[in-house]
Amino acid sequence: RKRVAVLISGRGSNMEALIAACADPAFPAGIVSVISNRADAKGLERAQAAGLSTTVIDHKAFAGREPFEAALSAHIEAVGADIICLAGFMRLLTAGFVTRWQDRMINIHPSLIPAFRGLHTHERVIEAGVRVHGCTVHFVRAEMDDGPIIVQAALPVRPDDTADSLGARVLTREHQIYPLALRLLAEGKVRVEGNRAIIDAAADDITLIN
Ligand code: GAR
Repeated sequence: RKRVAVLISGRGSNMEALIAACADPAFPAGIVSVISNRADAKGLERAQAAGLSTTVIDHKAFAGREPFEAALSAHIEAVGADIICLAGFMRLLTAGFVTRWQDRMINIHPSLIPAFRGLHTHERVIEAGVRVHGCTVHFVRAEMDDGPIIVQAALPVRPDDTADSLGARVLTREHQIYPLALRLLAEGKVRVEGNRAIIDAAADDITLIN
């Protein structure tokens, strides 16, 4: 099984979806470490409750991004991780760190990238009046919420949606596509060609629309 480090900053519901998937012995990956940059992240308790090893690496304890990321990399290497999953990890990573983990680090973002990168996606979707929204798992590149797309799920925006109601439906899809994307990557079914990720799997396996 591939060894996975999960990086969080908060609630950790996507981490929990990954924990649930990895609990199946047939799943091709297992979580070896959960790392938070915030000591108060709720997800830490959830990870501990699942019996996982957790570590806090507080960015505020370092003089800048580079020493913070050096500590992060040292820990991730010490636990022997093959893959990094960013799961609501809300720190930008420098090009140096991203390059070091190139094509071995994935992220989940609550929009159909390249639309609506950044924060408050559900509010901005409603504000913009778009009819279709969703979520994306992608390889991490130095640009925020950007990189080759592995899996997306799309869903309709309803006329009576609020940011909360829409966000709740998107989150349900996030919890489906993140384990799916990790499985494909861990099985060696994803390769990167330029800006695209090519998936060796049935098309309906990687595009959820509903
Ligand atoms: C999720 O909706 C995730 O997609 C988003 O933060 C939330 C974390 O929730 N990530 C980003 O916005 C990254 N740009 P969780 O801690 O319950 O998984």
